[in-house]
Amino acid sequence: MVGEPVNLNEFQELARRDFYAGGAEDQYTLEENMEAFRRIMIPPRILVDVSRIDLSTNVLGYNISAPILIAPTALHKLAHPEEVVTARAAAACKTIMALSFTSSCTLEEVASSCNAVRFFQIYVYKRRDLSALLVQRAERNGYKALVLTADSPRVGRKEADIKNKMTLPKLKNTERFLSLEASSDNGSNLAAVAKETKDASFCWKDIEWLSTITNMPILIKGLLTREDAIKAVKVGVAGIVVSNHGGRQLDYAPTTITVLEEVVQAVGGRIPVFFDGGVRRGTDVFKALALGAQAVLIGRPVIYGLAAKGEYGVRQVIQMLKDELELTMALSGCHSVKDITRRHVRTERERLH
Ligand code: FNR
Repeated sequence: MVGEPVNLNEFQELARRDFYAGGAEDQYTLEENMEAFRRIMIPPRILVDVSRIDLSTNVLGYNISAPILIAPTALHKLAHPEEVVTARAAAACKTIMALSFTSSCTLEEVASSCNAVRFFQIYVYKRRDLSALLVQRAERNGYKALVLTADSPRVGRKEADIKNKMTLPKLKNTERFLSLEASSDNGSNLAAVAKETKDASFCWKDIEWLSTITNMPILIKGLLTREDAIKAVKVGVAGIVVSNHGGRQLDYAPTTITVLEEVVQAVGGRIPVFFDGGVRRGTDVFKALALGAQAVLIGRPVIYGLAAKGEYGVRQVIQMLKDELELTMALSGCHSVKDITRRHVRTERERLH
């Protein structure tokens, strides 16, 4: 690449990082997450007054500058000086950051570093008392929602991590009460640590327990089917994040953009549906909104921005997506995100008929 990056893919080139870039096993889902977007077309709409475009939206009662949130991703320290920098970028861009449970600085440090609206992502430990403690710390420190990542009772097999003998560094949120000494015979200790600590028996009925220990709204992240969407509405969560963990969990899980509409229809407007996986262009954001997402989350691009240029890089990544989304809206005749409807995209199936 010559010169400054002009899009999110070029940020990836600048910031090559195996741990972040990789996916599970054959990386089929990882690659398809992006490919599937390419099969959706946006018919332009002409002769609409688009002299003013408004990207702003509301997520769980919070006004933000655009329907683009920061997804929870682990261990920002491997990319740059930790999550506080990402959080500052989120505040500067007037968006929401979901802090990973597996962050490399504490949730308190992130809370005191910025005034962004923050969500906290959790996995539930076998030691429920420790999970409850974390949830309460998040609530005390002004986190506005709990994102329960539900697609990871076990950790997906990421072969780059095995080759690189990736071992989990200290996790600041839990280091006082949890040892991460689990060893592994396959090179990386990530899966072994998770197996020892995470509660793989956690299931739908346990959501009730979670809602008894917090007043924060709960979002379930990692949901990909109509059946699970119906269950999520039934257990009373505040929202859903359609996600396949960026292709890092079950390889050959469907790509998120291909199942989004199925989930949106099952939910029937009763709770908001958010979306992540493979968003690299403003057109991708537009397509996800047209298929019913209220907002998208971006994972890897934020880390690439962080690795390449720190806070400025994250801000650039978000700004590029916003600029591209604004242009897409102008060229398809939408003044505001509410104007983006199902009629604004054609999926592959529709094009074949
Ligand atoms: C993740 N993701 C993730 N999700 C989560 O709930 N907790 C976590 O700690 C992490 N950690 C994590 C690390 C890395 C390196 C990646 C790439 C992803 C998944 C993340 O929230 C999101 O679902 C995906 O990253 C979305 O896909 P894209 O935007 O990376 O294509």
